[in-house]
Amino acid sequence: MVIKDITAADVSGDYETREITFHDGSTRTVLVVDEEVPYPDGRLIVSVTDLEGRITECNKSFVDMSAYSREELIGAQQCILRHPDIPSEIYADLWSTIKAGNKWQGYIKNLRKDGRYYWVLATIIPTVRDGEIVGYASVRRKPSRKKIEEFVAQHLSA
Ligand SMILES: Cc1cc2nc3c(=O)[nH]c(=O)nc-3n(C[C@H](O)[C@H](O)[C@H](O)COP(=O)(O)O)c2cc1C
Repeated sequence: MVIKDITAADVSGDYETREITFHDGSTRTVLVVDEEVPYPDGRLIVSVTDLEGRITECNKSFVDMSAYSREELIGAQQCILRHPDIPSEIYADLWSTIKAGNKWQGYIKNLRKDGRYYWVLATIIPTVRDGEIVGYASVRRKPSRKKIEEFVAQHLSA
């Protein structure tokens, strides 16, 4: 899996350089800016992926919040949005749930191309055709601040 690094030209302001190791052992260098972009009110962020988590479709809110262009997103792995703060066990749980044909719901901190981040409450469901999983879809909505704080206290505090 090869995902382009985030470079200094992509971000503005102070940043920290971090390295992400994905489940397949590949790595990506990202620049992380400690600034949240608030989830826009009244919008759903939607994407559809193939069985490997490659983005096949996404809506305008997805493009806008990611800070990537649509061309950069379609065909890219969904983990292009992975933020280094989220422990990999969360994604392992997500994948084992949806591969088993079940719905997964949880809080995710996503990394934008500009190094800033946004929180979502994601619901991911398998798309089943003739009894077989053919891909996945994710619908994200605005998470409550209280729930994010609880999630951070449980999973992100050192
Ligand atoms: C439909 C769907 C939506 C996903 N949405 C996100 C997302 O918004 N952010 C994210 O970091 N990972 C998302 N993932 C999980 C990624 O595929 C991936 O597991 C994660 O970024 C961590 O990478 P890794 O599993 O290679 O370690 C999604 C997966 C699927 C199938």
